[in-house]
Amino acid sequence: MCGIIGYIGKQPAGPILMSGLRRLEYRGYDSSGIALVSKGGLKVHKAQGKLAQLEKLLPKRLAGTLGIGHTRWATHGEPSDANAHPHCDETGRIAVIHNGIIENAPQLRARLESDGHTFLSETDTEVLAHLIAASGEEALEQRVREALLAVQGTYGIAVVDRDQPDRLVVARNGSPVILGIGEREMFVASDVSALVRHTRQVVHLDDREIAVLEMGGFRTLTLDDQPTDKQPLTISAGQEQYEKDGFDHYLLKEIHAQPEACERTLRGRIDRQFNTAHLGGLDLPPRELLDIRRIKILGCGSAYYAGMVGANMIETLTRVPCDAEPAAEFRYRNPVIEKDVLYMAVSQSGETFDTLAAAQEVQRKGGRVLGVVNAVGSTIARQCDGGIYVHAGPEVSVASTKTFTCSLLAFALFGLHLGRIRDVSPGEGRRLCDALLALPEQIRQVLDQSDAIQQIAVEHLAHNHSAFYIGRAGCYPIALEGAQKMKEISYVHAEAYPASELKHGPLALVSPETPTVALIPHDDLLEKSLSSVEEIRARRGPVIAVTHAGDTRITERADAVIEVPKTESVLDPVLLSIPLQLLAYHAAVALGRDVDQPRNLAKSVTVE
Ligand code: G6P
Repeated sequence: MCGIIGYIGKQPAGPILMSGLRRLEYRGYDSSGIALVSKGGLKVHKAQGKLAQLEKLLPKRLAGTLGIGHTRWATHGEPSDANAHPHCDETGRIAVIHNGIIENAPQLRARLESDGHTFLSETDTEVLAHLIAASGEEALEQRVREALLAVQGTYGIAVVDRDQPDRLVVARNGSPVILGIGEREMFVASDVSALVRHTRQVVHLDDREIAVLEMGGFRTLTLDDQPTDKQPLTISAGQEQYEKDGFDHYLLKEIHAQPEACERTLRGRIDRQFNTAHLGGLDLPPRELLDIRRIKILGCGSAYYAGMVGANMIETLTRVPCDAEPAAEFRYRNPVIEKDVLYMAVSQSGETFDTLAAAQEVQRKGGRVLGVVNAVGSTIARQCDGGIYVHAGPEVSVASTKTFTCSLLAFALFGLHLGRIRDVSPGEGRRLCDALLALPEQIRQVLDQSDAIQQIAVEHLAHNHSAFYIGRAGCYPIALEGAQKMKEISYVHAEAYPASELKHGPLALVSPETPTVALIPHDDLLEKSLSSVEEIRARRGPVIAVTHAGDTRITERADAVIEVPKTESVLDPVLLSIPLQLLAYHAAVALGRDVDQPRNLAKSVTVE
């Protein structure tokens, strides 16, 4: 959700900003722009559309060793050249880039307009540029501080001043801002992906914090003008993890990276002595775990669906009631927080505003929140009272794949850990450990079927207007996630239902033009799932079965069959979800879609 990049040092800033924006483009691609400060003054270049539009209009030589860059996901004001960041004050002295929403922008703008200010865009950000320029303070950081004291809302901002070319000022409240420390140069970005090619030493700003970046280093202060002390963190992800590695799309690379990603999630966490899981970051001794009477998982989008699967796994393994809820809905219904309920916040980016706000709401009311987070050191990870890092590695494509799968494993590990403290027997624990360790290889076996799945996607899904996805129990959320993948990257309308609900409404829409992807694991509900298939067949609806091998009743009835290896029933959803990713991917490619950057979406939604 809006990418921010900034640089101050000895090198030409232009190429650094542009390569940073390329890394950050997945955060928003409605427009992009850069501002550079040089002896010649402050120059701004910006354009509506993808980064390629900006590249086209940039002059060959870009002067300046200080600058900021932005890639936008529109909130206030439609995508246009005028609404693209950076935004300046009227004199062209101050340039600002911003991620977030200034809630009192209309009031501030009206006040500034009555003081004679003229605005060129519809954005809330332009108000900031005017406020900073109008400040009576001298130093840029004090101007920014004064302006921010008047502001309500969320922001990650970076500001340059033509008249103070020795500094770059950044601030954060609710939107990520990460400093990168170089050799006599400093960087700033909204995501480490834009920093890794320059440095591994980073500093995460906290809310209501301002940083002044100079060539030789940085200092931080609070909005109340108190200095703060920040310890740099060393990041482990290298630049190579952000390349496509010969794949046509990041999405395909990330789908194929799942075996190794799952190995990382499991590494060092299977305790063979007690056939349990070892989760060092939980910070919850067994005695406290025994007191838990209920578990509530909170997340958004695919993370929420992962939470739904996780809830099913945890409840099955521990017999502790567990459910998942969309983070924003939870937060706004004035939730009752109880002492013996454990809350879990699940997020790939660790920056999703609604998930963070839900976790904060729980903590404000005295509850404990564990994070299930992929991005190490991210805001949600730091906010939580402990947690499990997913370790899927950087995920670039907007649609989540490997993090979804690895989050399921993280929940399974947690379920095993808690289950072995409660009801799960050593024998059952051993079987689960074996099954978890076998998953990476089994995922490889599913990925080997990519060509056959491509054929099914093209033949049965890509050219229909609509599709149904059905599943039961732990596979219902897999159906939801499969339908979500199909919608978001191929734009084929797809709806998921618990298979049992088909006959209560959706069956009215089943026809030869409406295929159904049916998840049919060989478990206790197999016969019931077969009945659903019959109901669809009776209405001449095509069925694509995603199932286990060995039941001819499925092969005889389905129009296409994808078989995945069998694992412990509680883990079946993990393997059944992989073909659905490939179906969506191949349908999207067949339709010529922008797979990695689907329209209207952004990877990390850091606004409400
Ligand atoms: C956005 C993305 C989704 C993602 C969701 C939650 O909506 O487009 O793919 O699942 O945010 O993101 P998180 O980083 O919290 O997992």
